[in-house]
Amino acid sequence: MHFTVILKSISLCILILFTLEAGAISIHSPQRSLTRSVQEDVFFSVDVTCNVIPTIQWTFMSGAVSRTIGTWQPGAYTNITVDYSSRVQPYDNGSMGLSDLRLQDAGYYVVTVTEAAGSSKDAGFVLKVNEVLYEDLQYLSVSALALACLAALLMLAVWLLDKAYRKIVAWRCRAQMPENDATELQPL
Ligand SMILES: *[C@@H]1O[C@H](CO)[C@@H](O)[C@H](O)[C@H]1NC(C)=O
Ligand SMILES: *[C@@H]1O[C@H](CO)[C@@H](O)[C@H](O)[C@H]1NC(C)=O
Repeated sequence: MHFTVILKSISLCILILFTLEAGAISIHSPQRSLTRSVQEDVFFSVDVTCNVIPTIQWTFMSGAVSRTIGTWQPGAYTNITVDYSSRVQPYDNGSMGLSDLRLQDAGYYVVTVTEAAGSSKDAGFVLKVNEVLYEDLQYLSVSALALACLAALLMLAVWLLDKAYRKIVAWRCRAQMPENDATELQPL
């Protein structure tokens, strides 16, 4: 009688242990939704904990597109897809850095953590990529500068013309003075 109770307890303990084992992967991520601008970098921060060395895989999804970015095993190997090799930085805790963002990078990023025994877990991130705002600002300031320069040039031209006109008038007056009397200047 007592023996079966002990046996049952032991099997329960083993069952609990196995359940814990299967759920040994945990993915902690502080932020799941990110917004960046074109040409900026993004850091998908996760902290994977697992009782064995896990395999980390990042996948990109957008509409009908789904492609593997890279797969790595901390301390063992790193395999980043050719398209991403120059822009992706893998981290041992599962995090991934993606640099020089493009508009097409907007979408879902899924990290899948798999352990040798076969169990796996994943976490998804949403990335929004905005068109560069500061380029617009730069364009605006350049336009404003160009307009200011144009206005300055116009003012200079008007001033020069005015000066030239006065000079011509003075010269003509002086040229006419000896011949004509001062009467001609009277209307002025
Ligand atoms: C993962 O590691 C990177 C680099 O060491 C660190 O910057 C980041 O904060 C870590 N992520 C988490 C969620 O701990
Ligand atoms: C690296 O990944 C690519 C694409 O996912 C795959 O075709 C290739 O076999 C992998 N190479 C290694 C060495 O794992």
